[in-house]
Amino acid sequence: MVKICCIGAGYVGGPTMAMIALKCPDIQVVVVDISKPRIAAWNSDELPIYEPGLDEVVKACRDKNLFFSTEVEKHVAEADIVFVSVNTPTKTRGLGAGKAADLTYWESAARMIADVSKSDKIVVEKSTVPVKTAEAIEKILTHNNNGIHFQILSNPEFLAEGTAIEDLAKPDRVLIGGRETPEGQKAVAALKAVYAHWVPEDRILTTNLWSAELSKLAANAFLAQRISSINAMSALCESTGANVSEVAYAVGKDSRIGPKFLNASVGFGGSCFQKDILNLVYICECNGLPDVAHYWKQVVQINDYQKTRFVKRVVSSMFNTVSGKKIAILGFAFKKDTGDTRETPAIDVCHGLLGDKALLSIYDPQVTEDQIKRDLAMNKFDWDHPQHLQPQSPTAFKQVSVVWDAYEATKDAHGVCIITEWEEFKKLDYQRIYDNMQKPAFIFDGRNVLNVQALRTIGFIVYSIGKPL
Ligand code: NAD
Ligand code: UGA
Repeated sequence: MVKICCIGAGYVGGPTMAMIALKCPDIQVVVVDISKPRIAAWNSDELPIYEPGLDEVVKACRDKNLFFSTEVEKHVAEADIVFVSVNTPTKTRGLGAGKAADLTYWESAARMIADVSKSDKIVVEKSTVPVKTAEAIEKILTHNNNGIHFQILSNPEFLAEGTAIEDLAKPDRVLIGGRETPEGQKAVAALKAVYAHWVPEDRILTTNLWSAELSKLAANAFLAQRISSINAMSALCESTGANVSEVAYAVGKDSRIGPKFLNASVGFGGSCFQKDILNLVYICECNGLPDVAHYWKQVVQINDYQKTRFVKRVVSSMFNTVSGKKIAILGFAFKKDTGDTRETPAIDVCHGLLGDKALLSIYDPQVTEDQIKRDLAMNKFDWDHPQHLQPQSPTAFKQVSVVWDAYEATKDAHGVCIITEWEEFKKLDYQRIYDNMQKPAFIFDGRNVLNVQALRTIGFIVYSIGKPL
């Protein structure tokens, strides 16, 4: 039986390994992590991440051919294939701070693999890493010089949160990069055989190592660029009377452009787009390509601009001050169908409004009060560096309450901001909400999910992204 061990039981390691276990009953999969609470949660009825369909997949194979463990070294030592799916955050200190990827977790995983291995192994980069990382990892893996052979492969993950199970079951493509040597190609074939259990052969792409590493950064940069492009257009729509949804539809009808990923929004969030683009920018700078770096940096700058623009719109519409006014924040997760708040635009919007002394009442169906308060207390990028977390400032929280119901959040509010596109926000009783709000009652739809005409008929003053006022 082939044995797979995955280091890192996070949003990627957990679901990807569960899918491999489900589709490959002949393979034993162990997911290991240094975080005891995370592993305990994977072994319980309350999984550590909310992802539609994940419970069923995990329950179908847990304790059969899928295991979660904190015995990191033991399972790494026993494995034939070791996936490394640890976090690769943005550096907050030192050279490249604010841009470069922090590979501390990756490096320590690689050192541990080298130290505990007693047999040859294929080591798979599942985390998103800077191009050329495999070269550094190879050096670390072979530092012991103990006759054990490692083949390193790049197998970046393209799943999106909220649709992870669908994406893993039917991926657009699986990408495997390896060395162009006979040993490298043998390792590529071994990993390909794992995915071939359920992924059609023509969807399994094989490339050299550097193409695979760079394709992951490129794919995220292209996706984020589409959002920044439509968000930039949304600003122009607001100034000209054009409607961004109509523009996006008309543009997306061109088969060369396509309709997906053209929803204007308050800004993209999530743990990866910003981090990966900043990393790409840094790599371009290090390779003496400042113009290319500048080009990609604009994608992040437009995203910041969009979040700031949203806050300015709220404040300016509400007579240039939100001081002492109650504002309901509906949605805190970075997108619907996840409880993940990493780099969510909600954090910047809340900070902007708190800076103007608003009183915030926040509701998200999947995010806890603790998580929201932690997020609002953190410095940028610190969420992935627990050692840098500052103690929370109690004064900041006097202005924030977290509630478990949208009607409670909006009661007596002067304004409502929709920050996450949860389905339930489309179905709320807006007449009831209007009746219980201060007047004039404002709604700022940061996701363009509400029926503007119906809301205006009720009496709301409505602002949507990129739509005529
Ligand atoms: P995560 O923070 O959810 O999980 C990483 C896990 O690794 C944590 O549980 C941490 O405790 C563990 N870990 C760190 N160092 C370890 C070590 N030395 N030994 C054992 N465990 C260790 O991160 P994630 O969202 O799963 O992302 C992982 C990687 O995948 C990142 O590089 C990310 O860019 C990439 N990625 C993420 C997504 C996504 O949707 N989240 C999608 C594609 C790619
Ligand atoms: C994204 C990519 O879609 C995945 O392919 C990739 O694997 C992953 O990053 C990663 O590397 O981590 P994810 O961040 O989970 O996945 O979610 P997306 O659906 O891409 O959404 C990202 C952000 O963009 C969200 O805040 C979303 O609301 C926003 N968005 C998305 C828009 O504002 N408009 C759109 O049209 C689409």
